[in-house]
Amino acid sequence: MTEQDFENIRILDNFYQTSSFFPMPVVLVSTISEDGKTNLGPYSLCFPFRIAGKGKWAMKLNARSDSNTAMNIKRTGVCSINFIPDDKKSMEACVQLGFPGEKTEEKMKHNRFTLIPSYRNGNGTEYPEIVKESIQVFECSVAEDIPIWIDEETTECHMVLTVEKIIMKKKWKEALIKGEGFPPIPIDYGFRNNVNFWFTKHSKPYKIPLPERKGIDINSVRYAVDRCDPDIKWTDEACEKIVKVPRIFLNRVVQGVAEQAKKDGVTLVTGEFMDKMRDKRSDEQDN
Ligand SMILES: Cc1cc2nc3c(=O)[nH]c(=O)nc-3n(C[C@H](O)[C@H](O)[C@H](O)COP(=O)(O)O)c2cc1C
Repeated sequence: MTEQDFENIRILDNFYQTSSFFPMPVVLVSTISEDGKTNLGPYSLCFPFRIAGKGKWAMKLNARSDSNTAMNIKRTGVCSINFIPDDKKSMEACVQLGFPGEKTEEKMKHNRFTLIPSYRNGNGTEYPEIVKESIQVFECSVAEDIPIWIDEETTECHMVLTVEKIIMKKKWKEALIKGEGFPPIPIDYGFRNNVNFWFTKHSKPYKIPLPERKGIDINSVRYAVDRCDPDIKWTDEACEKIVKVPRIFLNRVVQGVAEQAKKDGVTLVTGEFMDKMRDKRSDEQDN
């Protein structure tokens, strides 16, 4: 046996925390309770679900079906996902809200976060308040085309939540657009040994460049662009810009560029046009 050999781990319920180390986000989900008050529940099983749905971008949340959060989402169809900052005070306040079985009124007596109104436009719908201390908030509604599923055996409630609005503190919006810097967002390693929740300290992110693999050759790009849209021509320079795109994504990328060109009234796709498109946020950067 050397240190490099693996050992078998018995898989138990809640395997992600009992039988492994699994890094997760920590969010506070705000919902509206039956008496109209905002309820905050800490959740980690909350991940991007539909990522390229053109207006149907969605998160997936897994919560006990009898939690306030699941019951409120089932009843009202709305929630907000609040990304609180990584510091011990916030994490202590967050864990205070994670004691199963407490009703909204009981637990919210211990709430140390500040609640402010939703940024969504009412239009008659009532939305839960959001947490002011958050770095960013995803304001969500239950996906219309994916029903909530309760696994009766485990009582887990699986919800797909369409992301209607993302709001972010100014400082982090600037970091996002410039591509410089990351906010301190906590990483949860779960509820271990029935005693403590464990979080890691946020450390400085580092970068790793994409692999310099040989992509496709310019002839394959030319073949794809010539067959995409007869009204739109491409310069060689524009074709060169996408030779590194993996083959399986090529047609989708070409189609995306052609759609944008049409929208902009452009009939010749140039290298410059491609550069503008590559940086999806170039419009915001110009402002
Ligand atoms: C950091 C943290 C992460 C949690 N993640 C989840 C989770 O992903 N799913 C879940 O069902 N419960 C999770 N819990 C437990 C819930 O927070 C707990 O059941 C709580 O009572 C839910 O509140 P609610 O009933 O107001 O929704 C977590 C608790 C903490 C402190």
